[in-house]
Amino acid sequence: MPQLIISAQHLSQQIQIQHKTLTILQQINLEIVEGEQVAITGRSGSGKSTLLGILATLDRASSGELWLCGQPVHTLNEEQRAKLRLQNVGFVFQSFQLLAHLSALENVLLPLRLQPNFEYAKAVRQAETMLERVGLSDQIYQMPKVLSGGEQQRVAIARALVTQPKIIFADEPTGNLDRQTAQDIEQLLFELNREMGVTLILVTHDLNLASQCQRHYELKSGQLFVVQHDKDGG
Ligand SMILES: Nc1ncnc2c1ncn2[C@@H]1O[C@H](COP(=O)(O)OP(=O)(O)O)[C@@H](O)[C@H]1O
Ligand SMILES: [Mg+2]
Repeated sequence: MPQLIISAQHLSQQIQIQHKTLTILQQINLEIVEGEQVAITGRSGSGKSTLLGILATLDRASSGELWLCGQPVHTLNEEQRAKLRLQNVGFVFQSFQLLAHLSALENVLLPLRLQPNFEYAKAVRQAETMLERVGLSDQIYQMPKVLSGGEQQRVAIARALVTQPKIIFADEPTGNLDRQTAQDIEQLLFELNREMGVTLILVTHDLNLASQCQRHYELKSGQLFVVQHDKDGG
């Protein structure tokens, strides 16, 4: 039986701006099973990044319950959430977010350095293997600034996956890339989803890409609407 890996119940996000309350997310319910591919689309400003940040435990919802890998995130403190994140979650951003003064290898090593059982030689092997897997065998020692956008995003994907997380959250990962490069990166994410069994939660503007995912939701007026459910994997 596949395990429920994310369960969100009545998640809402409201923020106070001066004397007004802005509701960004309204009573979101979402259940995701291990290994699934889930796309979330919606207009700019519809709350996609807010939702992803909450699901990834980077931000807190103002109300509702969130269970991640069986743990009740809504009851955890910052330190406990950081630990849960470190063990289970990888994040890929539109803007890559690599550290400019570190090589590709050092960037991928970063999350391993934070693991409790960090061992340098073993970590280097893991980071090299992951960089090879994303197609960067020849760029392992390069600095980010000499890499193309697509190569930088490959480094970011290797960094997100090197700890073998259960879930990868990708917020418009191809938004800064040309069409062909974007397609290559999308294929890579799908391949890694299948090979590693990692659950893929993808925010995208690309409706064609979203339609390739097993499930597709649209975020509108702070609520999630099903566009597609239980398609065969892309
Ligand atoms: N910390 C914040 N303060 C004020 N407004 C915010 C904050 N975070 C998000 N918003 C607003 O919430 C809405 C949703 O933002 P976001 O989640 O970034 O949308 P999307 O990723 O779909 O473009 C936007 O109107 C944005 O301006
Ligand atoms: Mg966004």
